Amino acid sequence: MTKPAVVTGIEALRGALAELRRADESIGFVPTMGALHEGHARLIEVARRDCEHVVVSIFVNPLQFDRRDDLDRYPRTLGADVEICGSLGVDFVFAPSAAEMYPTEPACVVDVHRLGDHLCGAFRPGHFRGVATVVMKLFQIVQADRAYFGEKDAQQLAIIRRMVRDLDVPVEIVGVPTVREGDGLALSSRNRLLSAGERSKAIALFKALESVRHAIAAGEHDAAALVRAAAATIPADPAIRLEYLQIVEPEELQPVSAVTGPVIVAGAMWVGTTRLIDNIRTSQS
Ligand code: PAJ
Repeated sequence: MTKPAVVTGIEALRGALAELRRADESIGFVPTMGALHEGHARLIEVARRDCEHVVVSIFVNPLQFDRRDDLDRYPRTLGADVEICGSLGVDFVFAPSAAEMYPTEPACVVDVHRLGDHLCGAFRPGHFRGVATVVMKLFQIVQADRAYFGEKDAQQLAIIRRMVRDLDVPVEIVGVPTVREGDGLALSSRNRLLSAGERSKAIALFKALESVRHAIAAGEHDAAALVRAAAATIPADPAIRLEYLQIVEPEELQPVSAVTGPVIVAGAMWVGTTRLIDNIRTSQS
């Protein structure tokens, strides 16, 4: 296990990476907000396999939080994160401060039309603008050959793919399948915020998504009927609130009225004061 270099300055990281680029060595990049778990680890492993050098960024980006309490509560575990990065053979951990990333209030941001308006975008105003803006900044800083994103955040992945296409960013985007617990719960940094009781309730979202897969396989194609039946599987519990459950096409993530090809079934659910998201892909129609 080699210790990764922990770099907090943009210029310092640029300087270190410029040398590698001059030597024509490939750079893989995994952007994260830290509190690393097995899902992040999978992204890092894929990057490690594909590229000669791996950069992981750890930055809890204030621009993408629509609620102050969510930003304050977000888990921060830098010491443990650096250990994990070391065990996975990461070369650089980029952990800038908010002042390093945003020395002044930005006047220029990356706006996301259509793809950012619905699903999570409808409930988290400005969220995807914040994500696209920070990822664009990180892409400019790291200038990686490839960047790795989880399918767990399907809307984020679709938006980043689109941003790279629309703005001609020279980086290849690689999507990595969702890593789950044994019972199916998608790994998430926010799972740490759940009490034991809440953890057992959290599985309801994945179960609801899976019920759509089964209903499609059984021949139901009407999206509204599928969503209604899936929502009905969520237990009536005052601690649980389904925020949305939608069936969308995989490219622009627009809602479908009938399932006639591959779709993504995506949902968000509150468990107590924690908001969890998940999605599954179906190939069947
Ligand atoms: P964060 O939530 O830390 O996630 C970092 C990356 O890990 C994202 O690409 C996310 O999709 C992926 N990921 C999270 N849980 C996963 C799981 N269970 N299986 C597979 N991949 C998983 O997403 C962000 O941070 C931020 O929005 C960021 C892109 C870093 C911009 O600030």
